[in-house]
Amino acid sequence: MRKNNHPILPPKTIGIIGGGQLGRMMAIAARYMGYQIAVLDPTPNCPTAQVADKQIVAAYDDMDAVKELTELSDVVTYEFENVDLTAATYIEKEGKLPQGAYALEVTQNREKEKELMKSVGLPVPEFKIVQTESDIKEAFETIAFPAVIKTCRGGYDGKGQLKIDADSEIEQAVKFLNENKHCIIESWLSFDKEISVVFTRSLSGEITFFPIPENEHKDHILYKSTVPAQISDRVKEAAVVAAKRLADEMNVVGTFAIEMFVDGEDIYINEMAPRPHNSGHYTIEACTISQFAQHIRAICGLPLREINLSHYSVMVNILGEDLDGVHQAMSSQSNGFIHLYGKDAAKPKRKMGHVTFIGESLQQVEQQINEFQEAKQ
Ligand SMILES: Nc1ncnc2c1ncn2[C@@H]1O[C@H](COP(=O)(O)OP(=O)(O)OP(=O)(O)O)[C@@H](O)[C@H]1O
Ligand SMILES: [Mg+2]
Repeated sequence: MRKNNHPILPPKTIGIIGGGQLGRMMAIAARYMGYQIAVLDPTPNCPTAQVADKQIVAAYDDMDAVKELTELSDVVTYEFENVDLTAATYIEKEGKLPQGAYALEVTQNREKEKELMKSVGLPVPEFKIVQTESDIKEAFETIAFPAVIKTCRGGYDGKGQLKIDADSEIEQAVKFLNENKHCIIESWLSFDKEISVVFTRSLSGEITFFPIPENEHKDHILYKSTVPAQISDRVKEAAVVAAKRLADEMNVVGTFAIEMFVDGEDIYINEMAPRPHNSGHYTIEACTISQFAQHIRAICGLPLREINLSHYSVMVNILGEDLDGVHQAMSSQSNGFIHLYGKDAAKPKRKMGHVTFIGESLQQVEQQINEFQEAKQ
């Protein structure tokens, strides 16, 4: 494997834009290796700041704060895709953003994202970009129901989208567009499964793939990821080939995830995340290296480690409403690796943590989950 000529070595400082759970888990992985961490986030004592050496408390687009972070860091990364592009371009010009601004530009805009997927010949749900009421009427002349209207920017955890099931709901789509401006309408696929391809790409273009999780959502929020996904070798191969094509096209560096729908033997690309992904949290306990540690290696120019799955694994998210039950189950259950993110308010539907169960078979893992759920009551 190629070694970078000038790798960034501990105890150098890694700057992270965004102080949520993904930044926190990146920071923890980096601290094991001896790096120092600086984080930029507007909320004092945010989840990442709790495990960092320094926090700059400021808005993500505050250029003075971005300059300060860049100055005190040897390399900068981010934990979400909505990084201000002026800030990202500045850091890239300073030579401290190996991931570059381009992958952000694409993934923070569903229009650019879908156009790129199409341009490299990958299947996506039928879609139309809409900016006016007449665009909506026109879109529904070709896109059949059910469909979904999504904001082109800023959506997450199913926020920023509305399912449209019939002609009678078009008015709701118009209202949604008026509130959100630039939107996309997609045909709603009745797929068999959702999967995600999580991988890490090095500065020299080498890629390591994590085993593919199968993802279940509840209320549009990721609920559970099961590994390995129960999919055919053909689907697995197609998913990895598609991911590699997109990664090479965007010259991705670091850990990256691509969400896909599986229908029979066909795959459709849903969306991309230029960062570690919720469905990849299982890698902390069930792989020879986690998605976070591999990310740190990539952005610091260290050779990537080979990835092997050591156990079957299921990760379940802990939302605000689950927290009391999880605390209760912890006092009697030894199975399940608990991760709590240190967020202050346990609001309903807010991701507060996750639990990863590992075992010698998926049946054994399901058994552990059942016992854990019972102990939550
Ligand atoms: N075209 C579609 N057909 C069928 N289901 C869809 C479609 N688009 C979205 N969904 C469902 O809604 C979920 C959330 O959609 P999407 O991934 O586009 O939004 P998001 O808000 O960015 O989600 P997240 O941040 O959780 O990944 C998908 O994982 C899928 O279950
Ligand atoms: Mg998604």
